[in-house]
Amino acid sequence: MALAKTRNGLITALDIGTTKICCFIAERVDDGTLNVTGIGHQLSKGLRAGAITNMEAAEQAILAAVTSAEAMTGETIREVIVNLSGGAPGSKLVDIEVPLTRDEIDEDDIRRAITDGFPYDLPEERALIHTIPTGYRIDGSNGIDDPRGMFGHRLGVKINLITAMESAVRNLSVCVERCHLDIQTIVESAFAAALSTLVDDEMKLGVTLIDIGGGTTSIAVFREGNVCYTDSIPIGGQHVTNDIARGLSTPIVHAERMKTLYGSALPSQTDDRELIDVPSVGEDERSQANHVPRSMLTGIIKPRMEEIFELVRNRMEASGFDRLAGRRVVLTGGASQLQGTRELAASVLGKQVRLGRPIRIRGLAEATGGPAFATCAGLLSYALRTPPDWSGKASTPPSRPNGRSGRIGQWLRENF
Ligand SMILES: Nc1ncnc2c1ncn2[C@@H]1O[C@H](COP(=O)(O)OP(=O)(O)OP(=O)(O)O)[C@@H](O)[C@H]1O
Ligand SMILES: [Mg+2]
Repeated sequence: MALAKTRNGLITALDIGTTKICCFIAERVDDGTLNVTGIGHQLSKGLRAGAITNMEAAEQAILAAVTSAEAMTGETIREVIVNLSGGAPGSKLVDIEVPLTRDEIDEDDIRRAITDGFPYDLPEERALIHTIPTGYRIDGSNGIDDPRGMFGHRLGVKINLITAMESAVRNLSVCVERCHLDIQTIVESAFAAALSTLVDDEMKLGVTLIDIGGGTTSIAVFREGNVCYTDSIPIGGQHVTNDIARGLSTPIVHAERMKTLYGSALPSQTDDRELIDVPSVGEDERSQANHVPRSMLTGIIKPRMEEIFELVRNRMEASGFDRLAGRRVVLTGGASQLQGTRELAASVLGKQVRLGRPIRIRGLAEATGGPAFATCAGLLSYALRTPPDWSGKASTPPSRPNGRSGRIGQWLRENF
């Protein structure tokens, strides 16, 4: 559901990532698209695997990113659309059927089908983030895209419930509110990244989006235009950097540089002949660096990247979405820029892989239009999205008053 504009007509996206925090402020253009007028980004502090681990440090980093975006656009913002990558976000599909009272199906019937199914059977500690209808059925006939205006006696709907650990959602919300910002809505990270990088045909025909960030790898499967499965793995580019730092006994900042400058997920024939400088931990700048063959660096990087794609493959196979998602994969996120990643993903997953960057938002410079900014751009795309996601402010599933997740569901709806 398209979100209401904020008071000054601006829409603000806040991507709280494990390695960087990024804020985009955008205005609506006459043709219905968004143009980014303010950008701020900042190294993250106080986060691990997408979740807040130090409230104070995270708050400072968020404020710094938001303040610089505000300075660029010359406006103060009050409300933000924020992503969620911590708290192990994941999907659960539920199937609901309700009798129809009127002849012609309208939005109220759909809303009733979704709300009548409540309370959904969610574990106590998980909070509901999105309630997304992925397909309808009238009188047992499947394959209905949009039942509005049609006739029938029974309406069935398959719903994708995206949930995450209640504690992670609560900590994220409190942290953003401590920055004097109201949360307009929370969007799961891979869902957001998909909205900014995928083309319509991919979403229709079936595609898997994999966002490899610093501390998490998030997955979203789209079919028939809807997100039908999401999952996440708490491993990302930071783990690759840490492996290099440990394996070569070099400081993390040097390991990070080595990874981006010389690193590759795939070996090449010249690797043994190319030598790279490796400063040792604890030695000052002037002391002589060790020289190691590039093959040693690749030998450290490749197994970790393979592990990430193997875990993605296992999760997808276990969920049954591996076959349903089709053969196309789009990789995005900062760590997808590592050389050889596309080829490695193609060989481990056995699918066609392309690299994705934000394509739907105007006003992003070269430096902020890359794959690391896919989630932030996607939060803006979410604001423009018309197919319903019944999780925003306007959603009305009745709460489950007695359960903790019922309360958090209620709390989410009341607050966002
Ligand atoms: N050119 C590059 N080559 C290899 N890795 C890169 C490159 N540029 C960035 N990275 C890696 O990308 C990671 C950060 O990606 P991104 O900005 O998408 O993460 P994040 O959104 O902060 O984290 P998360 O989504 O996991 O919470 C870092 O680990 C960084 O090392
Ligand atoms: Mg991210």
